[in-house]
Amino acid sequence: MNRFILIFFLYVGIPSLGFGQFSQSSRDSIQKLSQADHRLMMKMLGIDQLRPGPSGDPTAPNAANSDESKAKTYESVPDPLVFENGKPVQSIQDWEKRREELFELFDREMYGRTPENLPSVSWELVSEKDSLIGDVEVNYLVLKGLVDNSVYPSLSVSIDFEYALPKNSVGPVPLIMEFGWRWPPGMRRLPAPPGPSWQEQVLKEGWGFGIIIPTSYQADNGAGLRAGIIGLVNEGNSRQLDDWGTLKAWGWGASRALDYLETDPKVNSRKVVIEGLSRYGKAALVTMAYDSRFAVGLIGSSGAGGAKLLRRTFGEQVENLASSGEYHWFAPNFIKYADPLTPNDLPVDAHELIALCAPRPVFISVGSPEVEGQWIDAKGMFEAAVLAGPVYELLGKNSLPTDEFPPVQTFLKEGDLAFRQHEGGHTVGPNWPYFIEWAREYLEK
Ligand code: GCU
Repeated sequence: MNRFILIFFLYVGIPSLGFGQFSQSSRDSIQKLSQADHRLMMKMLGIDQLRPGPSGDPTAPNAANSDESKAKTYESVPDPLVFENGKPVQSIQDWEKRREELFELFDREMYGRTPENLPSVSWELVSEKDSLIGDVEVNYLVLKGLVDNSVYPSLSVSIDFEYALPKNSVGPVPLIMEFGWRWPPGMRRLPAPPGPSWQEQVLKEGWGFGIIIPTSYQADNGAGLRAGIIGLVNEGNSRQLDDWGTLKAWGWGASRALDYLETDPKVNSRKVVIEGLSRYGKAALVTMAYDSRFAVGLIGSSGAGGAKLLRRTFGEQVENLASSGEYHWFAPNFIKYADPLTPNDLPVDAHELIALCAPRPVFISVGSPEVEGQWIDAKGMFEAAVLAGPVYELLGKNSLPTDEFPPVQTFLKEGDLAFRQHEGGHTVGPNWPYFIEWAREYLEK
């Protein structure tokens, strides 16, 4: 298969992989229901039509822009260190207030508001066993977080979470929590890379790892918004315009898993990393920004809606995110930036989401554009990390060591914001050893 076609399938095929475990007919009905909910949201917003997003197929006539000289179509980006009223942020106390302002803007316009008074979760131990991963003996726990559904008993919601801890550890260990993909039997997006898995690498450090399955408590499509944790809180109704989208709902689940880890004396719950790839990279960044108990973030190929500057005309665009295949990740209000508003009207941009993680360390990972394609917009993520730098510095931390976009495989590891484009495709894979090297300092001190 030619490389471009392969890349096309990797990206354009991915949203449908989200419900790949379903038959063609249920896929069609998921799509129809998503489109109906999307139209309802547009109606509530008073919008008839949206600008179509560009294509992820580089050979299509409407292919997404991949020409750097055409990417900078904006004149300015919002300044994380300037309040909405134009006053500058001059102190750490000011930043605390500006943070609240930014959360409010992200809540209202982009990711939606996490409801107050969410139902409680009680954890059930499904199984516990000793096992060997690589050559490390581990204790492996499988859990189910049962969400109290007394407000709306016709919906049941539960969180699938499992984690492994090295058996020979003395004292509580750091843990890497991944938003995990649940693959239908016999299906996997990319073959497992050669060499030790990320879990083996992490265990070798004496750290634990955990995997949370986001789609166990919130489906990855618009059709599922009246079920899962979002639907439960809305008692089976559709969303209001500033209601939370799935990225925040997925983050809520990770926070509940962290609550559980806080009760395990063998885990150092102040040293928990959140990691994810692609849509789960977006979710990992949102989780990291909103729940300051997560110590470190490893944000893999998150692209638009994650670490990529939305104002850049390169790769995936706001118009794609606002379409019926992806709008569910966000608050319905976000749709209006694909008509009548534009990305330039957004009161926030991705650099401010990264800034909300400060002073905690964040590693931004992406593959090589040659292999992974341009859809992700590696440079757009790098620029956002650069623009988040002043906030890290205000808090006494180190930003990226350069504002010049580095060649593939350059490891910018000197700061509390780290960046590396690896040589491979749509995976965190080759960046794991670099992440581990960089994160050691934070996780072991
Ligand atoms: C699509 C989508 C991206 C997303 C990716 C994935 O390519 O356009 O925004 O990150 O799927 O999650 O795999």
